[in-house]
Amino acid sequence: HELNQPLAAIRAYGANGRELLIKGRIEEAIANFDRIAELTERMAGIGSQLKIFSRKSRGNLGSLPLQGVVDGALEILMPMLGKTGIKIDIDLDPPDIRVWANSLLLQQALVNLITNGVHAVQGQEHKQNQKTPIVAVSGRFFEDMVRVEVRDNGPGIGVADREMVFDPFYTTKPSGQGLGLGLTITRRIIEEMDGHIYLEEGGAFTTFVLLLHREPAE
Ligand SMILES: Nc1ncnc2c1ncn2[C@@H]1O[C@H](COP(=O)(O)OP(=O)(O)OP(=O)(O)O)[C@@H](O)[C@H]1O
Ligand SMILES: [Mg+2]
Repeated sequence: HELNQPLAAIRAYGANGRELLIKGRIEEAIANFDRIAELTERMAGIGSQLKIFSRKSRGNLGSLPLQGVVDGALEILMPMLGKTGIKIDIDLDPPDIRVWANSLLLQQALVNLITNGVHAVQGQEHKQNQKTPIVAVSGRFFEDMVRVEVRDNGPGIGVADREMVFDPFYTTKPSGQGLGLGLTITRRIIEEMDGHIYLEEGGAFTTFVLLLHREPAE
């Protein structure tokens, strides 16, 4: 049922594209087909997220260099980032910081958070007095854990919405663009690794904080 919304959209764009072609409105028909291509790509993404969701993964934890996981996430995001021209600032200190995690799951969590950050700063682009968009990832030791931050200087999350952002299917994105599963899945992933995730309030940035273990729990 997570796929119903984009499926319905694809059906509508398909039917509409057919009518436009019959009427010779080629440009508009092409725009419809572009949307169908995007939605299909998106559905493939949902499929892989759901697979991750259902996978039993706790047995697959290990000590990983955070840098490698971040690089993997950026590679997945490359096509999207290339299109937007937004660069992600990465700051790991020390650079060889390691976390106790499942590499694919943590990579997916970072992809979800960075994607949200990019969407947030993109939404700002047409506004006046625009600030330079910033989406940044940092990693630091924090007591006996590793604190990973993904932050952006987009519009932020209103107090009323802060409770809801992790809820399944909560989205403020237009129909067909967001399913509201990204943060739900991300929280689930982090909790599978015995970590914590929360939204940090206040300041110039919207900051999602991950607290991850450095070593296996006793
Ligand atoms: N960095 C952010 N800045 C502002 N709002 C955010 C940010 N991250 C999440 N949100 C809000 O939380 C909602 C839920 O986020 P979530 O990632 O779960 O779903 P989505 O991005 O809407 O869709 P999906 O991730 O399934 O494609 C978003 O629609 C948005 O309103
Ligand atoms: Mg999202």
